[in-house]
Amino acid sequence: MLTINFEPFPNLETERLLLRRVVQNDVNEVFALRSDKEVMQYIPRPLAITIADAAAHIDTIDATINNNEGINWAITLKGTDTLIGLIGHYRIQAINHRAEVGYILSPKFQRQGIVVEAMKKVVEYGFKEMKLHSIEAVIDPNNIGSEKVLQKSGFKKEAHFIENQFYEGKYTDTVIYSLLNNDNYQN
Ligand SMILES: CC(C)(COP(=O)(O)OP(=O)(O)OC[C@H]1O[C@@H](n2cnc3c(N)ncnc32)[C@H](O)[C@@H]1OP(=O)(O)O)[C@@H](O)C(=O)NCCC(=O)NCCS
Repeated sequence: MLTINFEPFPNLETERLLLRRVVQNDVNEVFALRSDKEVMQYIPRPLAITIADAAAHIDTIDATINNNEGINWAITLKGTDTLIGLIGHYRIQAINHRAEVGYILSPKFQRQGIVVEAMKKVVEYGFKEMKLHSIEAVIDPNNIGSEKVLQKSGFKKEAHFIENQFYEGKYTDTVIYSLLNNDNYQN
């Protein structure tokens, strides 16, 4: 089993970004992301309807970190504290030394290489500090932007499951990408 411990919370820094803990003060930005139909179109989770939904989402993130079941960072641009996105190891499978990465970015900041830049540090943290052996990502095959992020981050496509997910009255496909902590991955 892995020993996971997120205390003290590990802030991560890249050239342009500071990844920090999500706090209740981020509720408006989290609401903007989770209530945006376009942003959420490939994420099979209910849209936030009220600010309270976003506050509950932040509480869930917090509880997950406190229970060592997953970790999420707020993506911020250095010099401003505003949350512009979220990235994290959502589901940790401690017995398999594996976690599932996920991310979401405000439309204003998309197509600037921000998620690829954040991903590099999140992967490095997963392998070096959490001692993961592999990281997976589960995407909708139509989510070209997300697929590109994974390919640019060294992930390899491993599976395409056909209509294996039932969400909101529809069967949808899922594609699995993964990255091993070996020579696929370079620091
Ligand atoms: C998918 C998402 C995370 C991409 O983040 P991003 O910071 O804009 O991605 P990057 O700028 O790092 O782009 C990486 C590559 O993907 C390409 N790309 C990004 N979005 C794209 C899109 N919508 N369509 C086609 N290509 C896209 C970029 O051009 C770049 O490739 P390039 O360097 O060859 O030009 C972002 O669009 C997003 O948050 N979408 C909504 C939430 C979501 O779907 N999350 C993933 C769930 S699995």
